[in-house]
Amino acid sequence: MSTYQKLGVIVSDIETITPTIKRFTLIPDENTQLPSFTSGSHLFVQMQDDDNHYSNAYSLLNSPFDEQRYQIAVKRGEHSRGGSAFMHKKVAIGNKLIVSEPNNLFALVPEAKKHILIAGGIGITPFMSHLHELQKQNAEYELHYCYRNANDNAFTQELMASGFKDKIVCHISSEGTRLELDTFISQLPEGSHVYTCGSNSLNDGVKQAAQKAGFPSHQLHFEQFTLEDKTGDTFTVFLAKSGVELEVDSESTILQVIEKNKVVSVESLCREGVCGTCETMILEGEADHRDQYFSDEEKQSQTSMLICCSRAKGRRLVLDL
Ligand code: FES
Repeated sequence: MSTYQKLGVIVSDIETITPTIKRFTLIPDENTQLPSFTSGSHLFVQMQDDDNHYSNAYSLLNSPFDEQRYQIAVKRGEHSRGGSAFMHKKVAIGNKLIVSEPNNLFALVPEAKKHILIAGGIGITPFMSHLHELQKQNAEYELHYCYRNANDNAFTQELMASGFKDKIVCHISSEGTRLELDTFISQLPEGSHVYTCGSNSLNDGVKQAAQKAGFPSHQLHFEQFTLEDKTGDTFTVFLAKSGVELEVDSESTILQVIEKNKVVSVESLCREGVCGTCETMILEGEADHRDQYFSDEEKQSQTSMLICCSRAKGRRLVLDL
């Protein structure tokens, strides 16, 4: 396991792409050197708005050969009061942000004979960096960009004016050109790998079509953060070093309760059990691990836990805080 490094960056540009989507360009601050990244990588952006802490994961959409900056696109959820609303309303050019170093859970597979990229709406972002890599490799590839209507086609104009345009097909459901997944997947050449990023329904559609067609499941790749449910029974947590006992209600995480009560400062980054930053030693009790960070053996050892997402198995935990 490895902990993500935190990086200080400055917002050097903000472009309004559609009424709900903005592109942010991030450059290193005076103490940071940006690590290089591979296409398909994401990073976490840490945000604090008064007492509320957020952390959202965003795919890097610029070229991986551009070592001077990171670019992300943020879609504001219709009813968002969290991270995406913060990015849209409160972040301005010149602001400093803390982000994680990039990590890649959606890498291209070198042995693929053909790369089939299927994007739904804002799910286009990781593919925008993949296009640069595929072009450089002179690889066989095609991108299918699916969206409902003009409001969803954030990057169509830009892509259609790029050197990749001959490899891109747009499927617009309001115009009746929806991608017919069953037919499409059943006709893919042998050795193709299919990469999908979009809504759950698009992901499910690809999975079902692949199953029907007998398309090998190990040649299917999805970019989705499978975030675990963080809710559960109420329990108490005793912070041994601080000498404070707190109740963690069914809707809150241990980290949120500690922050709300301002007992002790705990470092966090992803707040989703992915990065390991909030790892805390367990002194008594057992954790109900909800993270994607520890191995099964590490979870069984009950030595430490990630307090941004994991809960107690019993009624009480004692932590080394
Ligand atoms: S903050 Fe990333 S695992 Fe808890």
